[in-house]
Amino acid sequence: MAIHTILVTGSNGQLGWELGQLAASYPAFNFVLVDRSQLDLSFPETFEKMIQTIAPDCIVNTAAYTAVDKSETEKDLSYTVNATAVQTLASICKNLAIPFMTYSTDYVFDGEATQPYSTATKVDPVNYYGSTKAAGEAMAMEANEDTIIIRTSWVFSSHGNNFVKTMMRLMKERDQLNIVADQKGRPTYAKDLAMATMKMIEAMNAGKSIKGVYHFANTGETTWFDFAATIKAIAGLDCALNPIETKDFPTPAKRPAYSVLDTSKIEEALSIAIPHWEDALRDCMNLLSK
Ligand SMILES: NC(=O)c1ccc[n+]([C@@H]2O[C@H](COP(=O)([O-])OP(=O)(O)OC[C@H]3O[C@@H](n4cnc5c(N)ncnc54)[C@H](OP(=O)(O)O)[C@@H]3O)[C@@H](O)[C@H]2O)c1
Repeated sequence: MAIHTILVTGSNGQLGWELGQLAASYPAFNFVLVDRSQLDLSFPETFEKMIQTIAPDCIVNTAAYTAVDKSETEKDLSYTVNATAVQTLASICKNLAIPFMTYSTDYVFDGEATQPYSTATKVDPVNYYGSTKAAGEAMAMEANEDTIIIRTSWVFSSHGNNFVKTMMRLMKERDQLNIVADQKGRPTYAKDLAMATMKMIEAMNAGKSIKGVYHFANTGETTWFDFAATIKAIAGLDCALNPIETKDFPTPAKRPAYSVLDTSKIEEALSIAIPHWEDALRDCMNLLSK
């Protein structure tokens, strides 16, 4: 069955919003974008009725409990949203025989690798948020073996809360900032991830088999310090940036030291060339300056 009506959860988040922005460029699809007030992932028992009313041909679950540090103390809520709700959505999609796409994180990995993490690497999260996302992955796959999981990392967008917007604000407010320089990853522009999501849906409509785990992030790896330095250079700001070590910036949730994702599987499956993160950052900051 061809996908026409796409139900997108979390429409006010970075990725959900970017999918909403793309809707006008995809007139062949009917996007139904729902935010927390319309579909609250902390109440999985309410999903079935709501989904029956919408009758989607595909569910794209961008909503998640993403407050990494708060997750250490709000354990029940973050588990319900990131694991139980994802399992419930996967199961509903199986019963309706429609595709289910959901997103996960580089934080499912242990951070000890020295080579990019492939989709086949065993998960071993270092914080509670990562363990809720890993549980969501496993429970969704168990409920529905056709589930599509896209792991991503270091997400930014012109909409919502993210490192880029926080850095731009702090660099304007302060003379100097300490930034962690010993964590490596791949920034991801939510707009590019939204476009890859649509390519996946189009590929399914063209009859291609898409299921299982994929990784998506922009090309190129960096540290938070170099990410901040690039933001500073593009914005032309004066704030002094001091590189610091993770041990000098304690947070409630531990962060993986290395969480670079290998994206070759999605690049091959969709025949796409993913833009470099610096080009994506320029596009995002250009939008922010308007
Ligand atoms: N952000 C990152 O750096 C990052 C990194 C790796 C993976 N990911 C994953 O990528 C996906 C997209 O993330 P994102 O960056 O778009 O996240 P985001 O900007 O934090 O947005 C998450 C959205 O989920 C919604 N939400 C939270 N709790 C909810 C609930 N109980 N019911 C319904 N909606 C709820 C939020 O609603 P409100 O707007 O009402 O708060 C928000 O709109 C998620 O699966 C996330 O785990 C993100």
